[in-house]
Amino acid sequence: MSDSANTIDALQWENRRFPPSEEFKQQALVTGTFMYDDAAADDEGFWARQAADLLDWNSEWSTICEWNLPFAKWFVGGTLNVSYNCLDRHVLAGRGDKVAFHWEGEPGDSRTITYADLLAETQRFANVLKGLGVTTGDRVNIYLPMIPEAAVAMLACARIGAAHSVVFGGFSAHSLRDRINDAEAKVLITADGGYRRGEVFALKPVADEALADTPSITDVVVVRRGGNDVEMQDGRDHWYHDLMATADADCPAEPMDSEQLLFLLYTSGTTGKPKGIMHTSGGYLTQVAFTHKYVFDLHDDDVYWCTADVGWITGHSYIVYGPLANGATQVMYEGVPNFPGNDRFWAIIAKYGVTKFYTAPTAIRTFMKWGTQEPAKHDLSSLQVLGSVGEPINPEAWMWYHEHIGGGRCPIVDTWWQTETGGVMISPLPGATTTKPGSATFPLPGIGMEVVDENGARIERGGGYLTLTRPWPSMLRGIWGDPQRYAETYWGRFDGRYFAGDGAKLDDDGYLWLLGRVDDVMNVSGHRISTTEVESALVAHPSVAEAAVVGANDATTGQAIIAYVTLRGGATVDEQDLRQFVGEEIGHIAKPKTIYFTQELPKTRSGKIMRRLLRDVAEGRNLGDTSTLADANVVAELQRRAAETASED
Ligand code: PRX
Repeated sequence: MSDSANTIDALQWENRRFPPSEEFKQQALVTGTFMYDDAAADDEGFWARQAADLLDWNSEWSTICEWNLPFAKWFVGGTLNVSYNCLDRHVLAGRGDKVAFHWEGEPGDSRTITYADLLAETQRFANVLKGLGVTTGDRVNIYLPMIPEAAVAMLACARIGAAHSVVFGGFSAHSLRDRINDAEAKVLITADGGYRRGEVFALKPVADEALADTPSITDVVVVRRGGNDVEMQDGRDHWYHDLMATADADCPAEPMDSEQLLFLLYTSGTTGKPKGIMHTSGGYLTQVAFTHKYVFDLHDDDVYWCTADVGWITGHSYIVYGPLANGATQVMYEGVPNFPGNDRFWAIIAKYGVTKFYTAPTAIRTFMKWGTQEPAKHDLSSLQVLGSVGEPINPEAWMWYHEHIGGGRCPIVDTWWQTETGGVMISPLPGATTTKPGSATFPLPGIGMEVVDENGARIERGGGYLTLTRPWPSMLRGIWGDPQRYAETYWGRFDGRYFAGDGAKLDDDGYLWLLGRVDDVMNVSGHRISTTEVESALVAHPSVAEAAVVGANDATTGQAIIAYVTLRGGATVDEQDLRQFVGEEIGHIAKPKTIYFTQELPKTRSGKIMRRLLRDVAEGRNLGDTSTLADANVVAELQRRAAETASED
């Protein structure tokens, strides 16, 4: 792990410590170590108590966890309905008038949606889906902006036992098509368009392009949001509001098996083909409800805001399922942080009195660039806990977040987890943990985590590979349609352990420091993109002969995509056009920041592209041993060009 060893060496030890204040502790749900002790004594029993305490079950499970490595089942034999747990039970308990979502549109429009409203809308939409022939076990694709209908669509699927597969609205037609086809989805739910940076971005026209080649889709439901012109295909396409107007209001929640497939969510791996990560019902809901409650120290009067998009796992677990299972009041925001001004987030926090705020390091670093005058314009005194997710948070960003957003008084919870883990795995508990800026601290109660060396031997201090040692309730149940890939990808590297793909270091106090990916996965603004996927997109261009892609450190986005491309003989292509091409193949998040055109890629004498070397070049590092290179001049030329680009920046 030479790349991550570099990072390990480079990491400065951070000695500042932030214990929870007495004031915070007095109102905190968890202080001290009792919850850790409880879980350590019997982790399965601990999770069973959480499942019973946090959720309503129709029938009890017979086995807490059935573990046939690498396949786990949780709360086996138990039945529950996820949408009932997120909606009905709150209304039945007299909390129907409690606000579920303060929804804020980017142009400034807003909607207040109570739990009773959300239940009514979900029941109707569940009947719409039934009317379109969707039944238990079917897959439904969702391609929507950040509007309440996204949550409604997900909950309606859950209500009738259909699995949703949400595709982030920034993904291209090709990506949407591939995900629909892999899941063999029956219905697609989309919108005409949504708002982004003051303009309407079209979704339905992109979906139409995908739909030209998705034989499994029988019906398309279109929410009106952008007001842009769209074509509706007779017999296939329906307006959401038309279907809802005639749908039956009652759709009782039926008990589902604890292991009923709740959703698929596609994520990048080290190969070009995205993986459909499978999550099921009882265990998933237990862990996301548990983590949301205790990591954010949730109280009844909280106003919680997670800035993620529902198209990512963070939106699934910490906008839809965790917070709604806990009956929380949330803010949901449609747009970007800099419309109409760079202070939009802070204006929203002040407007709704947000108490718990969850965002990503890349956003924090962007706010740092915009300056402290932006948050200073607004009253942020309602804030109590700040969360971070998606990539390692560097100590400077942590301190800035602490001082300028948290007013020096809010605990920061740096939460490590993945699409595959479903819920948070490593994080402080804000009333119990003394934090250090940049460290995700310790695994949560009930989680088995160890750092190991190359050979899989446990390390108690120093750097190595992050592994999980036993199943957890919200763990992925597999990769859709590919159990072998699941076993190999996650359980194949170290015997009996789940390997997360991340490097990590334990300091002398046993605090955990995440060091980023050690595989060919990049983390750009907290989004996972595989180098292979971008390379495949580049070589799909008729002018491109060969491409190598690396993630280079970037002060704002964590990593940036740098591509090295050789063209076919006689071919030419403009850099911007090629970036655009990748955007169309995968989505705008995957566009390389810089493309270097080169006659040759640096290869070993056996013909292997030397990616590590390209990363060194991209990051301006002195090169180590280049003696295995077939042609050292290639690298010298690339270095010269990289230095030129850096001076232009
Ligand atoms: O490398 C880790 C990084 O994000 C990866 C998971 O990406 P994804 O499945 O898209 O989920 C992101 C949201 C949960 C991890 O393998 N990562 C996530 N959170 C952190 C992190 N790295 C360091 N610190 C974190 N808090």
